Amino acid sequence: MKNSDFRAHAHRLVDWMADYLEHVDAYPVRSPAAPRSIIRQIPELPPQEGEQFDALFRDFTTIILPGITHWQSPAFFGYFPANSSPPSVLAEMLTATLGAQCMSWITSPAATELEERMMEWLRTMTGLPASFTGVIQDTASTATLCAILTAREAASRYAVNQMGFAPSMRFTCYASCEAHSSIEKAVKIAGLGKESLRTIPVDRTFAMIPEELEKRIREDLERGYRPLCAIAALGTTGSTAIDPLRSIGEICRRHSLWLHVDAAYAGSALILPEKRWMMDGIELTDSFVFNPHKWLLTNFDCSAYFVRDVEALVRTFEILPEYLKTSEPERVNNYRDWGIQLGRRFRALKLWFVIRSYGTLGLQERLRHHIALAAAQGERIRTSSDFELLAPIPLNTLCFRFHPAGVDDEEELNRINAELLEHVNRTGKAFLTHTRLRGAFTIRMVIGQTEVQETHVRAAWDLLQTTARTLARQTP
Ligand SMILES: Cc1ncc(COP(=O)(O)O)c(C=O)c1O
Repeated sequence: MKNSDFRAHAHRLVDWMADYLEHVDAYPVRSPAAPRSIIRQIPELPPQEGEQFDALFRDFTTIILPGITHWQSPAFFGYFPANSSPPSVLAEMLTATLGAQCMSWITSPAATELEERMMEWLRTMTGLPASFTGVIQDTASTATLCAILTAREAASRYAVNQMGFAPSMRFTCYASCEAHSSIEKAVKIAGLGKESLRTIPVDRTFAMIPEELEKRIREDLERGYRPLCAIAALGTTGSTAIDPLRSIGEICRRHSLWLHVDAAYAGSALILPEKRWMMDGIELTDSFVFNPHKWLLTNFDCSAYFVRDVEALVRTFEILPEYLKTSEPERVNNYRDWGIQLGRRFRALKLWFVIRSYGTLGLQERLRHHIALAAAQGERIRTSSDFELLAPIPLNTLCFRFHPAGVDDEEELNRINAELLEHVNRTGKAFLTHTRLRGAFTIRMVIGQTEVQETHVRAAWDLLQTTARTLARQTP
């Protein structure tokens, strides 16, 4: 592609992007594509000759776009958001244009040094302790894996990296039964074995019961295991329950366990001083992760991982073949040694653009708006005659179900709610997802989309109510 053509196409795409973001609510939120309908439209063999950009772009709009679920729609209430913003998109355009691979300081000093500063900014904005040092990982899953690997190495005095597991190293890990699946995955990948993960019961608010944690650790010690690491959730995926860090931290200190905090979604709310109660006890933790790519207006992927002991992290991951050796006159960070992958994207740029564009105050205002919308919607559900809340609302995630009068069989309620959710999502007018809380099929509505307003929340609520009542009338 000639540079003059690139320029013309890029201008056209920017216009398309601005139009898309302006009218994203006009698209069906969940893609209506049938399974295999997209792949059938893509030739089985790659082209021999290069094609014109016009043909490519036409196929993007006719083949790809109908198969997209519109995560940036203000009517997207599913999972946790992956919200972005115009400044973040602009930064991603520059990142793609630079095409820098930022594994070492020398491979782009600006990327490394901006990352260091952005992690300091995030630490200040969230009120995390000054003793924490941050690094950007791709996802919370990777950060949690790094935490467990570092805990393993620190506990074994780096012997597992050197010689593999000795028979005496019967390590165990602990997380609540509401913890995210990435923890089980990390435990498996770290070679500890899935069965070494102890799931600790939760209380009525779905938060870990510290006494149960301690009981389980003691039992394991008696049976000759080596308790290694606990993972506390600051915002579980199901209902954003907040595990009590202080009590968990005290137990971990008593028994010398590494304490990692998975705040993948809810961590962004720590930029609000009134939400910092969630991290009471943070000084007792060893590592912490949250995702600006979920609720801080920053494009996927961007996960902020903080550790107290950087040396342990680097010692776990560093490896220095001849071809990566560099000679810097000063101390610099080589982030290739701070995690799993060698090659790294330049992710700090989008954080810089987002934080400078909105300012801390602008970001706080946006998050408070989401939390206020959720509180109002929570009240509508609480006062509704045929819907009920199934969990507390510490932030902006609502867990509820339709519960018509006279239907009390749990299986029947599960069936009705699964059907209701499917009907609502099929309209394309709103998108919500579900979880199970104490076995009950639970509809989740997360109000965290960058541009979500009260009109979108009310429209989704009207849709839920009318659909539910229509279905109830049709049920014999
Ligand atoms: C609590 C929690 N932890 C971890 C994750 C995994 O996040 P990621 O996709 O960044 O790996 C999620 C995803 O929603 C989550 O809710």
